Amino acid sequence: MRVGILGSGLMGAKLGTILARAGHEVVFSYARSAQKLKRLAREAKGKAEAGTPREAAQDADALLLAVHWSRIDDVLNQTGDLSGKVIVTCSLPMNEDDTELIIAQGSSGAEALAKKLPKARIVSAFNTVPSEVLFDVFERRRKAARPSLVYCGDDSGSKKIAAELIGDTGFEALDAGPLRIARYTEPFALLVSQLAYEGKGGPRLAYRFQRFGR
Ligand SMILES: NC(=O)c1ccc[n+]([C@@H]2O[C@H](COP(=O)([O-])OP(=O)(O)OC[C@H]3O[C@@H](n4cnc5c(N)ncnc54)[C@H](OP(=O)(O)O)[C@@H]3O)[C@@H](O)[C@H]2O)c1
Repeated sequence: MRVGILGSGLMGAKLGTILARAGHEVVFSYARSAQKLKRLAREAKGKAEAGTPREAAQDADALLLAVHWSRIDDVLNQTGDLSGKVIVTCSLPMNEDDTELIIAQGSSGAEALAKKLPKARIVSAFNTVPSEVLFDVFERRRKAARPSLVYCGDDSGSKKIAAELIGDTGFEALDAGPLRIARYTEPFALLVSQLAYEGKGGPRLAYRFQRFGR
């Protein structure tokens, strides 16, 4: 697939690199320097290039939205029309100092994004893992027990694309249901980050859901 990365920071840079190494065509966009985007494209060693958000969106089969909540409008103003586009968002609706969700309970960041872009096909994914674990999961992708990664969305075609991308990063894609379930996955993402950054085990934290018995 051709995957446009909107936001090439901790999450976008790593996921873009992994997806390029998994064989996708990746366009890195939206960082504070063009040099950084070019370096990411060079170091990804797959089919990767640097571009503007508009170039990342053009002809993309999927877009990964990985910017701080405060940057969403700015990046979306630069992409052009996103009607019909699959947007996989890992952006959490956090306040400026990243201490609180500013949308929760009755809605979620993913649903707010879908309201902002009613013609785009939004899937919420990747926000429930710390970026530090991503390369390890990719390296271990051939091992039997993959960690889970929950995703949700309202459009079956875009969920299929997201599940394929999640699988290519080394996780087991776990369909959590419609987009409104992001009301539960976004606070869960905060629990994961609390355990990763303030718990004793450190940031290389992934989780696995298993059913026991009948
Ligand atoms: N990091 C995690 O482990 C993690 C886990 C779960 C969810 N998330 C969510 O994922 C989203 C992205 O997080 P992140 O940690 O990847 O953030 P980040 O490292 O801050 O990346 C954001 C990207 O936006 C770019 N950017 C910021 N301001 C800009 C501006 N004025 N002009 C152009 N580019 C600009 C940054 O540029 P530079 O590259 O130049 O800094 C960076 O590439 C957030 O919503 C976060 O809540 C993150």
